Formats: sequence, C-alpha cells, structure tokens
Amino acid sequence: MLVLGIETSCDETAVAVVERGGQDRVLAEVIKSQVDLHAEYGGIVPEIASRTHYQVIDLLTRRVLEEAGVTVAQINMLALTLGPGLIGSLLIGLAFAKGLALTCRLPLVAVDHILAHVEAAFITHPDIQYPLLALVVSGGHTTLFYQKKKFSSQVLAKTRDDAAGEIMDKVAKHFGLGYPGGPLLDEAAGSGDPGRFAFTLPKMSDGSDDFSFSGFKTSVLRYARADKIAVGSQSFNDLAASLLRVLVDYLLGKVLAAAAHLQVKSVVVAGGVSRNSLLRQHFTAACREKSWRLFLPEPNHCTDNAAMVAWYGYEKYQDFPHLNYFDLYLNSYSRALFREVNKHR
Ligand code: KG4
Ligand code: ZN
Repeated sequence: MLVLGIETSCDETAVAVVERGGQDRVLAEVIKSQVDLHAEYGGIVPEIASRTHYQVIDLLTRRVLEEAGVTVAQINMLALTLGPGLIGSLLIGLAFAKGLALTCRLPLVAVDHILAHVEAAFITHPDIQYPLLALVVSGGHTTLFYQKKKFSSQVLAKTRDDAAGEIMDKVAKHFGLGYPGGPLLDEAAGSGDPGRFAFTLPKMSDGSDDFSFSGFKTSVLRYARADKIAVGSQSFNDLAASLLRVLVDYLLGKVLAAAAHLQVKSVVVAGGVSRNSLLRQHFTAACREKSWRLFLPEPNHCTDNAAMVAWYGYEKYQDFPHLNYFDLYLNSYSRALFREVNKHR
C-alpha cells in the first residue's frame, strides 16, 4: 500500500511517500524548511509560515511523487497532520489533502502530530514492544506518555509553560543567533564545560510530575547577562553545555522515575530535541545501565517530517478499516459534505 503523508503543522512543509503492508519503507520524502525565513525574527511568524506552505505544497507533492517513482493514481491513501499546530499552517495542509482526497477518491486519515513523533521511532525500529514510555520533546511540546498498546496513550506529564526546545530557541534569540536554537547550542556545548554554571530545574510544589521550564530559562538568561557572555566565547560554550546537561538530566530523571514504577518493555524519545547529541548519549547510557530498550528515531525523523505522519496514518487506517473519503477526526461538517459529494459521484 502506498501512503502519501502531509505535514504542515508549523514551519516545515513536508510530504512523503511510504510503502506499507509488505516491504515497509520510505520511498521518498521532501521537506521545505522555512528556517531562513523565520531566523531574523528569532521565532516562527505564523503568517509567513502559512503563506510559505501555500506557495510550495503542490510543487513539493509533485516532486516527492517523482522521487518515489510513482504517480498520484498509484497512491492508496493520504495521511495528514490535523493538529496540534499553528491553525493557518494546518489549514493549508487540510485544504490540500481534502482536495486531493476528493478528486482522487482516496481515504484521508488525520493524525495527531505529537503521537506521529512517537511513531517516527517505528520507522527504523519495527520491533518496538508495548507497553512503552514515550517522551516527546520538541519546540512546541514536552509530553511523557505511557502507551499500553498502539492507540492507548495516557499522558503522565506535560509542560506547564515553555517546551524544552523553546528554551533553547529563546536563549539563542537572546544572543541574536536566530532560529532554531537547539542545533546551535548542541554544537557549542560540544566544546563547553557542563559543570561551569549551576542551573537548577524546579520540582512541582503540588507534587505533580509535570514539567516546568520558564524559571530555568530566566536563570540561564540571568547568568548570560550578569557574565556579559559573548557568542563564540568559551563562556558561551560553557553556558550551552551547562544548560543542556541540566535539561537532559531533568528529562532523564522524569523518564527514569516513571519507568521505575511502570512495567514497560521499551522507552522512546522523539521530537526535535531528541536529535540532541548529549540527550542521545545520556539516555542511551542510562537505559543500558537499567537494561531498558531505548528507541530513538533517525535524526531526520526527530524533527518535523511527513514520513512519520504517513507511517502513523497507515497504522490508524489498519485499525479503522471502515474509513473512507474522510477520517473520524475531521469535523462533522466536513464529514457531511464529503458524504454529500460522494453520493453524486
Ligand atoms: O519536532 P520539531 O521539528 O518541531 C516541533 O514539533 O516543535 O522540533 C523543533 C525543536 C526546536 O525547538 C529546535 O531548537 C529543537 O527541536 N532542536 C534541537 C536540535 N535540533 C532541533 N534541540 C537540541 N539539539 C538539537 N540538535
Ligand atoms: Zn513536531
């Protein structure tokens, strides 16, 4: 079965063609990153994001079909990120996918972006076993899930304020480094001293397991201002290394605490921040010590991509084989409209 996946929830327009149900593989994927367009603003400008999706989505779809060596007539189903994300950006993907679904008479399966990030690990590791613990750390989300099986997700903890990646993006913005901050700090941390700055992360006063990062961000920025740290200096590298060490240990501590009292067979860490070198090292070492099986997506499937959307859409389609022309998650007006149109075909 050939699945075309579409992802436009934030600042990446991504389209992928995957083959499932036999030889499971990604045939082709293209991503138009808007990083250069948002960099000068130090964060994503929603209006620019939507307009760019609008300009490139059909061209990217044509290109991915060419690269996969298939025609649109050979596609068997569509998968789309329905949310969460920027509404203008999501709407571009939705309008495009609905149009394609209607004209090509294809089933359209809408998926949750955060759960699609978890699915990204299955692309290279089809042997991941349930129950599993999944941490999604990105620029917009920090959520810890317990999944008893594929479609049964329980949120154990989530952020009450900023997301983990947002901290790095905001610190980079403070230094005038542009967006996204994560890869820049990752690189700087490689030549820094992680013990130089003593940052701490909070415990919830109400005893909750939720994450909170905003106080941490304030203290990092306070150190940065007080020490008049310049980009490229040794102090800057030390700040990046200290920030990442504390952040990664905080995330790891939450995962270890949850895994200790849940009988999980696998641990998955996904989302843009799971691309981070230190995170990958520390999680790998800690899980090896506990003999837990850790699964990380390939670096290009940690950040937003459409292969994870297509992969997850296919799984959903297997679980709801009655889906046709619309997905259960599209709103009732769309469903009624789709039914009406198809009556007259
Ligand atoms: O998953 P993603 O592409 O988009 C969202 O769903 O938010 O994640 C983007 C986030 C950004 O905050 C970016 O700074 C962070 O992932 N990121 C990294 C690295 N690469 C991307 N953070 C730390 N280290 C990296 N190497
Ligand atoms: Zn994402």
